[in-house]
Amino acid sequence: MENPIGIFDSGIGGLTVAKAISEALPHENFIYFGDTAHLPYGDKSKESIRLYSKRISDFLVGKNCKAIVIACNTASAHAYDILKKRHPQIPLINVIDPTVEYCSKKYMNQSVGVIATKGTIQSRIYPRKIKKANNTLSITQTATPLLAPMIEEGYFNNNISQTIINSYLSAKQLKSISALILACTHYPLIKPEVENFFKKKVEVIDSASVVAEYTKTLLTKKKLLNNNKTEGHKSFFISDYTKSFEATSRLFFGEKIKLEEERIWD
Ligand code: DGL
Repeated sequence: MENPIGIFDSGIGGLTVAKAISEALPHENFIYFGDTAHLPYGDKSKESIRLYSKRISDFLVGKNCKAIVIACNTASAHAYDILKKRHPQIPLINVIDPTVEYCSKKYMNQSVGVIATKGTIQSRIYPRKIKKANNTLSITQTATPLLAPMIEEGYFNNNISQTIINSYLSAKQLKSISALILACTHYPLIKPEVENFFKKKVEVIDSASVVAEYTKTLLTKKKLLNNNKTEGHKSFFISDYTKSFEATSRLFFGEKIKLEEERIWD
């Protein structure tokens, strides 16, 4: 129960998920791995994402993680099934299923939009899974590839970012939706700007908080929660260290953290 939760992403964007998990489960230890050597995943092939995800999950299992959270939509879309087979002994959580479950229970006969990287959109994983869970819903989606690099540069919450966001959200696919899924690790940071565009008439679903609640429920059910009452220990690894990643990590985690380099590829 005291073993850490492993969390991984293509880079530091998944720190939004790590942050939500640390707030929902403050006593848990966790190990975060960001694959900055291969960032971005959003436009890589399925084969590459699978290879990277296998290596990272092996690294986390080698660190005795009691559960693994794939905190990246693109890796969840392409690699969840193969990781499930590779590590059948530990709970594996992706960022898609909890969000699909949330939407399919809450909405009926309505339209739900999805914005994400090209990889996630082209996989059609959200329409397929949501339709399977609730076929009264109609799903529309659009790729928003400029948003992740823009956010990563700290470029949001200003007039120009709002204009880019507005231009993507004006897509005809997103007319008359009741909810919009922010299906990318970076997007919780622009949630207020997205809400602004829809004038609060559309529920903007930030998968980080949905996944954190799901992780809590699952670990409780499996009796894997850490009973210690002290604050959990957190370690952060990235596969290619630069000072700029360390500086940017603050945007995503909300506080200063120390990133360590772990070149699991050598
Ligand atoms: N982490 C990726 C995702 O959630 C976004 C960044 C990338 O393309 O690597 O899809």
